[in-house]
Amino acid sequence: PYLERMNRFDVLEEKVKQILNLDHVIITPGDSDQDEWVKFDLGRRAYDFLKKQLKPSDTIAVTGGSSMAAVAEMMQPSTNGTNCFFVPARGGLGERVENQANTICAQMAKKMNGEYRLLYVPDPLSEETYQSIIQEPGVKEVLQMIKEADIVMHGIGDACTMAKRRKTPEHVLDKLIKGKAVSEAFGYYFDRDGRVVYKVRTVGMQLEDLSNIQTVIAVAGGKSKAEAIHSFFKQGRSNVLITDEGAAKMLIKGS
Ligand code: F6P
Repeated sequence: PYLERMNRFDVLEEKVKQILNLDHVIITPGDSDQDEWVKFDLGRRAYDFLKKQLKPSDTIAVTGGSSMAAVAEMMQPSTNGTNCFFVPARGGLGERVENQANTICAQMAKKMNGEYRLLYVPDPLSEETYQSIIQEPGVKEVLQMIKEADIVMHGIGDACTMAKRRKTPEHVLDKLIKGKAVSEAFGYYFDRDGRVVYKVRTVGMQLEDLSNIQTVIAVAGGKSKAEAIHSFFKQGRSNVLITDEGAAKMLIKGS
């Protein structure tokens, strides 16, 4: 039965890889919408993948969210990751502390005996504050590290769920509804064809920066995220997906 299951997942992974046009897809059994442990399993698989890619002194930029928090939870020191550096991919996005990129970044560094730098930016940012904050030497230094990251690891969310979780103001909600936003990642909201509908104003990684980064790993599972995952990958900036059976099966069904 174990081998049968392995084969079943090989086929699923291949299908998802083709649909989304990715280099690597890893699928873990179960559905993280239903069982909390599946999310930790996702985290473990994501960490295993990351570990294989890591070289000493690599910089890893990470986003927030509960899937990324699960990755942090499953991390352990690794010789591949000696002197690795963690940075948050983008500044404040309206998440609770435990889901913030800063928190997760510090936790990851602690687990892997690495270093970290944080982005201290108010949230949300006015245009004026934004322009002056990116001139701050402390912020500038971290922004440079983010742009030069060797690896990026990020979550993907359903647009509606994320807008609610961030207590998004009414006028922005209107934009998301009018633009038919389906997914969210890095503070960008996308429609079903992967077009940007709205972008949260904060410092850090811009979508364009991802094109220069060799390994961009998305960690997202649960049947409810299938559409969001499909939408996000339409704009083709990440090349690896760590997901679960629930999301994968729904994704195949819907395509
Ligand atoms: O807010 C950070 C973030 O990575 C979002 O970009 C993403 O949509 C969300 O978290 C995913 O969160 P979760 O893993 O809890 O679904």
